[in-house]
Amino acid sequence: MDAITPPAPASFDRYLVAEGEDLAKLGNCAGCHTAEPSRPLAGGRAMPTPFGKVFATNITPHAEDGIGAWSREAFGRALRRGIARNGEHLYPAFPYDHFTRATDQELEALYAWLMTRRPIAGRAPETKLAGIFGFRPVVAAWNLINLDEGPLADDRQQSPSWNRGRALVEGLAHCGGCHTPRDRFGAEDRSHAFDGARIEGWYAPPINARSPAVRPWTADELYVYLRTGLGPMHAAAAGPMGGVTRALAQVPDTDVRAIAVYVASLMAGAPAARQDKAEPVDRLADVQRAHPEAATLFAGACATCHEPGAPMMQQGRPHLAWGTPLHEDNANDTIAIIMKGLVSPAGATGPTMPAFADMLDDRQVQELAVYLRARFTDKPPWADVGGAIAEARQGEHK
Ligand code: HEC
Ligand code: HEC
Ligand code: HEC
Repeated sequence: MDAITPPAPASFDRYLVAEGEDLAKLGNCAGCHTAEPSRPLAGGRAMPTPFGKVFATNITPHAEDGIGAWSREAFGRALRRGIARNGEHLYPAFPYDHFTRATDQELEALYAWLMTRRPIAGRAPETKLAGIFGFRPVVAAWNLINLDEGPLADDRQQSPSWNRGRALVEGLAHCGGCHTPRDRFGAEDRSHAFDGARIEGWYAPPINARSPAVRPWTADELYVYLRTGLGPMHAAAAGPMGGVTRALAQVPDTDVRAIAVYVASLMAGAPAARQDKAEPVDRLADVQRAHPEAATLFAGACATCHEPGAPMMQQGRPHLAWGTPLHEDNANDTIAIIMKGLVSPAGATGPTMPAFADMLDDRQVQELAVYLRARFTDKPPWADVGGAIAEARQGEHK
């Protein structure tokens, strides 16, 4: 599509720009397109894929290095069909397979917001993938199989809030981008939607009927978790999910409620939805005997915050037994949390969790993970704790 002269920021309606800002937060555009905070949306962040690194591009309105020369049509085609202005196919690391659900009005608003940002010079490094994806036109075949274009029709059996929630979860908020496993061509496996998937060393757990959560995720609890980053009956949102909740803290309340309503309906069939164990598991006495070294480590490094009765717990932080990470079928999240710590949730004040990667060696991290699983759950030991530690050590996600 032809290049245009970047439109004057003043030519866009103020309300449209404000709507676009909310939508950009829902889509977390800045999350992927910002490598350095001082250069918002200027790209350069590398996304690891099985085929190599895909670099997010500069989407500021800079005429040469960004998308300043993109018309409204060129922009809409990129979000709906994954095709760049010059006609090249974009890689699905850019979640256009979700963004395609955005309405024309939403695309208009996103365009207005992006075109009124500060233009920043500088191009992202060039993406060079291995294997069949080294050749961009191959993506056309991928799209034929995997791209279901355009907004979803409302389901009249469901409430307006549920329909809005579905439109966002399946669309701009692209929750499946992390929570749905992918096939060997990098496409989300729709027959396993929201079944849980590995993502940059972390694990985005199932958020459907297969959820391993021990306490029910109701629409209210999900709302608080998504809005503040801390679910009082579960745990804090760690790693990549922390970023998602920090963005959701800034969007209209009704949208976050709608997402919560829809996700609660996905999780309605989960085991925890049917039984709410009020008393957390704590097998302290048995575990202390079986894992004396880890018990000492926990007492020294973790108990000041996590032992029931610690000041942090008295402020209403959830019991360790209630967080989903310890109940997942792999150790990735638990290991990643211990090694990388937790930045402050969007809505909470008070203690955050320090990163222990430099304070503990691999064997100590392993001992602690085994100890937590044995003490706070009634599940069997994890199979490959060492592998999860190796993944976290080389993980690119900070
Ligand atoms: C999960 C990460 C991710 C998110 C979230 C994301 N993008 Fe991107 N985007 C990418 C990557 C990676 C590319 C480069 C793809 C390629 O090189 O083929 C890209 C490319 C693009 C392009 C094409 C630009 C060009 O120069 O070719 C546009 C336009 C774009 N994104 C807009 C957006 C908007 C608007 C949002 C928010 C609604 C958004 N992106 C959210 C990862 C992301
Ligand atoms: C960038 C990847 C990513 C995206 C996008 C993402 N998630 Fe997550 N999500 C994760 C990871 C990783 C975890 C586990 C983090 C942890 O243990 O705190 C998680 C955890 C969760 C949990 C907690 C589950 C539990 O039982 O503890 C919920 C609920 C959730 N996500 C919902 C969503 C919703 C809804 C969206 C879309 C609005 C979304 N996620 C988008 C990566 C992501
Ligand atoms: C300075 C206080 C502090 C210390 C010390 C600390 N944590 Fe945390 N930890 C937190 C906070 C705050 C959270 C987030 C709230 C939550 O999720 O319960 C958290 C969350 C966690 C979680 C995820 C929540 C869950 O239920 O799964 C795990 C696992 C965890 N910590 C393990 C540890 C271990 C192991 C140690 C010792 C090596 C430790 N923490 C030391 C403050 C701390």
